[in-house]
Amino acid sequence: MQTEIFNLKQNDEITQKNAIKKSAEVILAGGLVVFPTETVYGLGGHALDPLSAKKIYQAKGRPSDNPLIIHIAFPRDAEKYASLPPMYHTLAESFMPGPLTVVLDAKDSVPNEVRAGLPTVAVRCPCHPLAHDFLLACGVGIAAPSANLSGSPSPTTGEHCIADMSGRVDVILDGGECSIGVESTIVRLHKDNSLTLLRPGAITLEDLKTVTPNITVADAVLGELKEGETALSPGMKHKHYAPRTKLVLLDGTEEERFAYIHNRHAKDTNNTSIGVLLYDEEKSYQQMPNVTPYSIGKKRDIEAQAHRLFSLLRETDKGAHTVLYAPLPLTEGLGMALYNRLIRAAAHTIVSCKKKNSEKKE
Ligand code: TXA
Ligand code: MG
Repeated sequence: MQTEIFNLKQNDEITQKNAIKKSAEVILAGGLVVFPTETVYGLGGHALDPLSAKKIYQAKGRPSDNPLIIHIAFPRDAEKYASLPPMYHTLAESFMPGPLTVVLDAKDSVPNEVRAGLPTVAVRCPCHPLAHDFLLACGVGIAAPSANLSGSPSPTTGEHCIADMSGRVDVILDGGECSIGVESTIVRLHKDNSLTLLRPGAITLEDLKTVTPNITVADAVLGELKEGETALSPGMKHKHYAPRTKLVLLDGTEEERFAYIHNRHAKDTNNTSIGVLLYDEEKSYQQMPNVTPYSIGKKRDIEAQAHRLFSLLRETDKGAHTVLYAPLPLTEGLGMALYNRLIRAAAHTIVSCKKKNSEKKE
């Protein structure tokens, strides 16, 4: 398939108009369009067309038991696809348009293929101007997962999308870097107006608690799904964001993490190539010749870290390292989203290198 790529990074109005017009035509004809959002890029198709959903699963190489999010131009458009408890309007007022996805009881209009046979459907109203214009021009909801090949990190730049999706979709709208860099927060909104946090993102647990105390965090967000447990969100059970390099998370200070890596690899005679994600302030690793450092941002700047994470995982994969180490983030605020993505990328390999604690789980 020939993929038409529109470079929209220059904000040129005429190019943008043409690209959006073409994209809407493609969607209404049953084709696929990759589009930028404030979180990550989406791989979109007509939300009411079962065939488009099938094409999405195929282009992504995604199992069809993992449902798609319906993207809408305005919060009120959710009504076409789901029943809306009063809390939906409270959430919409506070956080929409923006990086929040709400899982609701689906209306019959939503094809089974989009919701993977579930009685629920996920809706999200993105705040990226290009995404908004695209949704408006389509005049229908757009079913879209993240625009990466299944199993690789979500795409946060046009280049990532071109690498994964060229030849698999009709159009790629390259709008430059996504401002947030991790996928939206997902909550299940129950009939009784209570919430379950299914995936943490830029709308934090603390943010959600400002509008309702009635919220719990699904076990799989910070831990591993236990044998026999059913995932509240099908995506939780799939191995996610898996870099090809083995990723190990280290829990400890800079000094403790460095000591751990040093002890483990200093006597390495095989010239093992090691990648290390570190904070901008950290310098110790430069003392080890076989270590390639990758800066993830200032220690306290979680937003910058989230913005860089997926790009870095793609970059470190190209480094052909035997192992990649990363600091274990704290779980407060946006840190919870980083933690959630990293424990999945590391397949839950966490090593405590704290001096007083010798417990190791590697
Ligand atoms: O920021 C985002 O959410 C991006 C952009 C493109 O909007 N989209 C995204 O989609 O991350 P995706 O498909 O990669 O992740 C959506 C997650 C999946 O883990 C899926 O299992 C879950 O949402 N999901 C979708 N529908 C659901 C439902 N009805 N119930 C529970 N979880 C659902
Ligand atoms: Mg995804």
